[in-house]
Amino acid sequence: MSDSISSLSKENRKFHPSKEFVKNANIKSVAAYKKIKNKADKNPTLFWAQVAKDLHWQIPFKKTLEWKFPVVKWFSDGKINAAENTLDVHLNTNRRNKAALIWEGEPGDVRTLTYLQLALEVNKLANGLKSLGVKKGDVVGIYLGMVPEAVIAMLACARIGATHNVVFGGFSGEALRDRLNDSRAKVLLTQDGAFRRGSPSSLKGAVNKVLNHVQTLKTVVVLKRTGQETPMQANRDIWWHDLVNEQSNECKAEALESEHPLFILYTSGSTGKPKGILHTTGGYLVQTKYTMKEVFDLKENDIYFCTADIGWVTGHSYVTYGPLMNGSTVFLYEGAPTHPGPDRFWSMVAKHRISIFYTAPTAIRSFMRSGDEFPNKHDLSSLRLLGSVGEPINPEAWMWYYNVIGKKRCPIVDTWWQTETGSIMIAPIPGALFLKPGTATLPLPGILADVVNKDGKPCKANEGGLLVVKHPWPSMLRTIFGDHERYAHTYFGEFKKQKYYFTGDGARKDKDGYIWIMGRVDDVVNISGHRLGTAEVESALVSNPLVAEAAVVARPDEIKGSALVAFVTLKAHAKENIQDFEEMKEILKKWVAKEIGPIAKPDEIRFTDALPKTRSGKIMRRLLREMVTTGKTSGDTSTLEDFSVLEKLRANDEE
Ligand code: WTA
Repeated sequence: MSDSISSLSKENRKFHPSKEFVKNANIKSVAAYKKIKNKADKNPTLFWAQVAKDLHWQIPFKKTLEWKFPVVKWFSDGKINAAENTLDVHLNTNRRNKAALIWEGEPGDVRTLTYLQLALEVNKLANGLKSLGVKKGDVVGIYLGMVPEAVIAMLACARIGATHNVVFGGFSGEALRDRLNDSRAKVLLTQDGAFRRGSPSSLKGAVNKVLNHVQTLKTVVVLKRTGQETPMQANRDIWWHDLVNEQSNECKAEALESEHPLFILYTSGSTGKPKGILHTTGGYLVQTKYTMKEVFDLKENDIYFCTADIGWVTGHSYVTYGPLMNGSTVFLYEGAPTHPGPDRFWSMVAKHRISIFYTAPTAIRSFMRSGDEFPNKHDLSSLRLLGSVGEPINPEAWMWYYNVIGKKRCPIVDTWWQTETGSIMIAPIPGALFLKPGTATLPLPGILADVVNKDGKPCKANEGGLLVVKHPWPSMLRTIFGDHERYAHTYFGEFKKQKYYFTGDGARKDKDGYIWIMGRVDDVVNISGHRLGTAEVESALVSNPLVAEAAVVARPDEIKGSALVAFVTLKAHAKENIQDFEEMKEILKKWVAKEIGPIAKPDEIRFTDALPKTRSGKIMRRLLREMVTTGKTSGDTSTLEDFSVLEKLRANDEE
């Protein structure tokens, strides 16, 4: 830990918002900000209860926070509907005919849906789902690319009280199968294929085989996007247009309890099995709406582009619910950022006059590498605010983003949060705070995040520690679907006595109180801004019949943040039969891509005869991590069972 602390603390540059920006900002000064923050932090429950009044409640709440550690409820006697808060609330206002979604397909086709049009589409699909027997509380799987129907699908579920489970379109059939099974999905909404890097890539066809292994699945609804040949199974699969065309475009929004499950989203943990993070309705909506408005300093005529896929939490909170609740115009893009050239995003910013752009540091680093000539070819003067999410942004990438994309005019909001937190927790309020490259700055009003040591005591300025949240917040996860024990243990096991939520991240606070995230302290890694459990990759590797054992660790990578290195021991009989070990490495990489998805593919595979283990048989990943990062191992090896293993691993390394 100490290395990263000292290297980060060299960063001292400060950037204040321009006069122009401050003039129009929602919160214009440090004083105004402090007033809100001090009051909110003194009584977060009261603060959030006041914020919650900004939403439309079918039945207003009287209760606010109920906290029976570690079970949390917010506004539990109120009734509310997420689709109504994103759509209906705008239909009797000037926003009725305002663009809700502007979508550009990879081939360049553009579709715009106004709030009214979007509402009618959502109603039709909601009625379609009802006609399939979907009821309040049922789970609907969503496996779509970035098409307007992805947003329509989420909102249609929300309208009737079905819980959506979106699975990232880049995940394999096996990963989809496991997530649908675990969440007990009744219906799956998918599509024939999506355009990616210039050609149609199959979705339904690619996963068709596994769908028969989901017992609970009754119907598969298939959207026609590319028109490619797609297998359809009689009595199970139907076309989206056939389901929706005859449906009425009116559908009552169910009055749902505030604690009704809105969605399940699977994310990686430190064991092989992904966790189904469960979010409920009222509290999630309250914090998502508030953070969207204040962190992005939202204005009525903004055109907002968040590059995240709908399959990640950012696509839930800041593509769908957050911006639509605020009546924003959301720009959506279907395809690859590099198609037809590395300037695709910048050409769309110029063409659609995008004003807010929100992306991940990995994307920024790869734009940087492509060269300044690509953004410089385009008129980026419509941009007024930039955002970053998903991983720590290194100061060099921050400066490039600030200078080359934002032309020194646009504040950068570095937003720290997690699938579990539901919405942004640590981020600057851009009209009030100065920025420093590489820090998400201060916890938002009403969020009691802090850096503490192992005993739960606050760390001193610049001392590395663990990032915790000391008081419940409205959009926090409620449980891990089907495994409440794991929920209690993972998030509240570390600081049981203090009742703190443990984020899994290491951090330090500087003398201004700004929080610098140092990365995960558990076996979760961030690859290109996507969260992966190394244990998941290990279990994919050992499911190969030739593999005996595997240990996966991360090493720093210039573009992706981290890269995966897999240490693999092969079964004895396998070794004798393998002719070409380089080829075997490629086979195993492809195997992992098939089991989980291409994002989980190890960057490097190293074969070894044995793995370093403790006397109790635990693989010492710390040593492996050190080896791939520094090329040596210096830490405590006193519990290591067999030193010769390390010698051998090192020797392989030097070859
Ligand atoms: C990391 C993504 C530094 C962190 C919204 C966290 C960040 C994990 C930032 C959650 C940031 C996210 N600066 N690190 N601004 N944002 N992280 O669940 O390690 O995919 O715990 O949620 O990403 O990843 P997840």
